[in-house]
Amino acid sequence: MSLSSPDLDLPACDFTVFGGTGDLALRKLLPGLYERERQRQLHPATRIIGVSRHALDDAGYRDLVTTALFDHVPEDHLEAGAVHRLINRLHHLALDAHDPEDWDLLHGLLKEEVSTSSTSGTGSTGPTRIFYLAVGSDLFGPICQRLDDLGLVDAESRVVLEKPIGADLASSRAVNDAVGQVFEERQVFRIDHYLGKESVQNLLVTRFANIFLEPIWDSRWVDHVQITVSETLGAAGRGDYYDRAGAMRDMVQNHLLQLLCLVAMEPPTYVGGDAHDAVRDEKLKVLRALKPLTGAAVDRDTVRGQYTTYGEEIGHPSTTETFVALRAEVQNWRWAGVPFYLRTGKRLARKESTIEVVFKEPPHAMFPHSEGVTTPNRLTVRMQPDEGMQLHVTAKHPGPGGIRLHPASLDLSYADAFDERSPDAYERLLLDVMRGIPTLFMRRDEVEAAWAWTEPVIEQWQRSAVEPVRYHPGTTGPAAAATLLAREGRTWLGEA
Ligand code: BG6
Repeated sequence: MSLSSPDLDLPACDFTVFGGTGDLALRKLLPGLYERERQRQLHPATRIIGVSRHALDDAGYRDLVTTALFDHVPEDHLEAGAVHRLINRLHHLALDAHDPEDWDLLHGLLKEEVSTSSTSGTGSTGPTRIFYLAVGSDLFGPICQRLDDLGLVDAESRVVLEKPIGADLASSRAVNDAVGQVFEERQVFRIDHYLGKESVQNLLVTRFANIFLEPIWDSRWVDHVQITVSETLGAAGRGDYYDRAGAMRDMVQNHLLQLLCLVAMEPPTYVGGDAHDAVRDEKLKVLRALKPLTGAAVDRDTVRGQYTTYGEEIGHPSTTETFVALRAEVQNWRWAGVPFYLRTGKRLARKESTIEVVFKEPPHAMFPHSEGVTTPNRLTVRMQPDEGMQLHVTAKHPGPGGIRLHPASLDLSYADAFDERSPDAYERLLLDVMRGIPTLFMRRDEVEAAWAWTEPVIEQWQRSAVEPVRYHPGTTGPAAAATLLAREGRTWLGEA
């Protein structure tokens, strides 16, 4: 079923967003819900309830969201009718978490009779309650507990958790335990929006719906893998959160490790239908097979950086990293000895997310050197911008006069190959929450395995108390990141 099909038969939902006036809600969640509205997929009785500390009434919230839609929805998607329909579903509730009366108001709103006679596409009686927690993970447990105390959680309810969940393994376990007191694992949707990106899902399809890559997808043929997520934005505007998290917790522990999993995982037995765990089981095996990075290996195989204007932007000096590069290994039969180089950073030269799978050189150089050199084959998966793939090959330069070798590429651009626009990751994920499909969400054991690998790196950084290396905004990050590869005779591909 296409994402743009109106026949998804979504149930009526009471979609409550804690953090309803925040950056994520206004920039991603409401525009994502708007697209579903535009496709006429939302059930007529679905309501969207923004919860925040701001003293806004429904009308004020509707104005705020209207402005956000005009700012964040592509112009050619703005349709007055759809905006109007979405806006009419909105409510706002100013809630001070410590004030029981405010919780009573939420209770009253969610227990209100819904006017439409049939509220559910799934046959249950009331709307499906979805609680999207776009707030710090320290609040997840207390919010879930309150919702339960108020009798707002039933077997159909779902909770959506934004990453990072906790700040280390112990705190993530504590958060998951607290949420688990109220919601069963099948009701918990832990968002990693990278899993909602079309190009990331296409990586699964390219690997497993085709035969040609799988035989060469291992340590015999692959020299190394590079995963780069570079951003031009800085931390301004969300400095409070970011300065506590840093690039390791904000990006590596989740997005980059999830991408690594999709590159390295074994074929799942089945994808789709009710087999929600097949992919997640395979990703978990990869996370558990990551070679631990501890002690001296952390000093050798990781680079922490900070852009020079960071302190100024967030308003105080800080030792939080805004850039990480590291060398990881997956210790299993398929990948033994293959380096996986990961890097991510803010205020870099380009906004770009790519995976490069670099293959080995042919075993025998049969063309004379004077004719040019072979460049290793390489598969580039471009997640953004211009989603697509390139297979880099060595080709013959046209014309007589011997065989001259020249690098060339087979190019797949999604924009050219498909008429449909690639939906934003959140559009897809919000739909899956409403449909109750958890495949593209992180399971508790995945999150904890990712923390178990990440935590010793952070601890070693703290122990060694080495300041992050500085890099200038608009560059490719610290020189040490280049050295990490250079010492093994390699270079970063793409520009970062
Ligand atoms: C978020 C991080 O999860 O991902 C942000 O918290 C980051 O710091 C963002 O900017 C990047 O997402 P995308 O989709 O723009 O690459």
